[in-house]
Amino acid sequence: MKLLILNGPNLNLLGKREPEIYGSETFEDYFETLQKKYNNISLEYFQSNSEGKIIDKLHQIGFTYDGVVLNAGAYTHTSVAIADAISGITTPVVEVHISNVHKRESFRHHSYLSPVCKGVILGFGLKSYNLGIESFL
Ligand code: DQA
Repeated sequence: MKLLILNGPNLNLLGKREPEIYGSETFEDYFETLQKKYNNISLEYFQSNSEGKIIDKLHQIGFTYDGVVLNAGAYTHTSVAIADAISGITTPVVEVHISNVHKRESFRHHSYLSPVCKGVILGFGLKSYNLGIESFL
């Protein structure tokens, strides 16, 4: 089982960024916890602030990996291009969010990605990623 966690813009700032919303743990630390917990699968992590790099990564792994756990950050609410990339690959993608976007500003309530994803998990803090991984097991 080969899974990729793919994080989009500003998620490199986890731990420092709005900790009251996103918590105080860095993703690098959390990823180590995930790798220990899921040591029987191949778990990779990639983060980019650039829409094109996220699309390139989906193209690169999207015909061979078993799943992608994707937090596209703000691109969730804006990117037809990432939605098209998800439609164009065969690897299933689960959309995750740390915060409950439906409790927040109305511009966060719409996702271009949800209709082309296998499922959506949101609002459980970093545990949303655990649940995303679990969905593929
Ligand atoms: C987010 C929610 C998005 O609205 C926001 O732009 C993010 C993070 C989340 O994980 O809660 O960058 O995807």
